[in-house]
Amino acid sequence: MTRIGVLASGRGSNFRALCEAGRRGDLGGGQLAVLASDQEDAGALDVAREFGIEALAILPKSYPSREAHDAAVVEALAARQVDLVCLAGYMRILSAGFVNRFRGRMLNIHPALLPSFPGLHGQRQALEHGAKVSGATVHFVDAGCDTGPIILQAAVPVLEDDTEESLSARILKEEHRICPEAVKLYCAGRLKLEGRRVRIS
Ligand code: GRF
Repeated sequence: MTRIGVLASGRGSNFRALCEAGRRGDLGGGQLAVLASDQEDAGALDVAREFGIEALAILPKSYPSREAHDAAVVEALAARQVDLVCLAGYMRILSAGFVNRFRGRMLNIHPALLPSFPGLHGQRQALEHGAKVSGATVHFVDAGCDTGPIILQAAVPVLEDDTEESLSARILKEEHRICPEAVKLYCAGRLKLEGRRVRIS
């Protein structure tokens, strides 16, 4: 049984999609063990409580450095025997120690078709660039910013009258589909990393 830890900074709609998949028994045998946030008022913490999942607020201001905060998060995950970490809107750059500790065992959801538009505001970047297609990507986390091996992607059209909000909503729908799907594939042992390519069996 894969124990899953989720990190989220915001409202937690992707985390909710994971919780709903978990409730349906649709995470490939994976089990949500803990939700940790760097924000004390994150909606994701309420979602965790709603679904009866342990909710932790681990606040950066309580630690002297990024490394010390990351170490506290890693310790909390390790104490709960977490095998897989899912970043679901976790708005912090992770230190090298954290990334190395969970290399090949940490996923992130990004609101653009990587490698286009990494970093903040992927939806706004696609719109301002004039892309006609954008979407969502779930990828393994490596040392770079949104650069790790791609697991799943879903494309959506960028429409003539789109705003950042309308495009974000269309992309979010796909995030909610492919994030639990990628976690399920991982937990079912169906992902194999070959260099940069993720093979799905
Ligand atoms: C999503 O758009 C995700 O792709 C990005 O942050 C947002 C989080 O939304 N990394 P939510 O907290 O899951 O609703």
